[in-house]
Amino acid sequence: MFEISVLVSGSGSTLDNLAFHCYDDVEGIMRGMVTITSVFADRNCGALEVAEGWGIPKFVLDTKSILKKAGNVDLCVLAGFLSKIYVPPEMEGKILNIHPSLLPKYGGKGMYGRKVHQAVKESGDSITGCTVHVVDNEYDHGEIVDQELIPIMPEQSADDLEMAVKKLEQQLYPKAILNFLSKQPK
Ligand code: GRF
Repeated sequence: MFEISVLVSGSGSTLDNLAFHCYDDVEGIMRGMVTITSVFADRNCGALEVAEGWGIPKFVLDTKSILKKAGNVDLCVLAGFLSKIYVPPEMEGKILNIHPSLLPKYGGKGMYGRKVHQAVKESGDSITGCTVHVVDNEYDHGEIVDQELIPIMPEQSADDLEMAVKKLEQQLYPKAILNFLSKQPK
């Protein structure tokens, strides 16, 4: 069984989906293969209630302490974690993030949530999507692990894009985590 820790700052919909895929007996694509040992938050947020709902131990700590504690697992997964991370050498290649755009486009400092989709909408691009990447010391910069894309219809607003990409993220992240873990030496 692979062990992961999940780092959060927000509403916890990404965490909820990952827990579903770890623990749902019927539809969970990571069931029996991946378990979430702990959830770490850098602030009080809705994701803590989500962790509680799934019976996962949860901790609120500053980012430095989180990285010290969260690394004792096969993989550390960011799920809407908003603080800047400086990756300790022993955790290089062991932290994943999901970003709601086709990186390297629309990433970097300050590019999160609705802002991403507004920028995509204003650009006139015809496709958007989401990216799972390894976390390094630059925002949204590490090696790309997987991407999923969808077409943009002219009538879609930034809100519509956000909803559509969120759905896509829910499919991509568990799949990408499982693939990534399967390739790691156990
Ligand atoms: C995700 O949708 C992802 O795009 C980004 O942060 C969002 C987290 O939202 N990394 P939530 O807190 O899981 O609802």
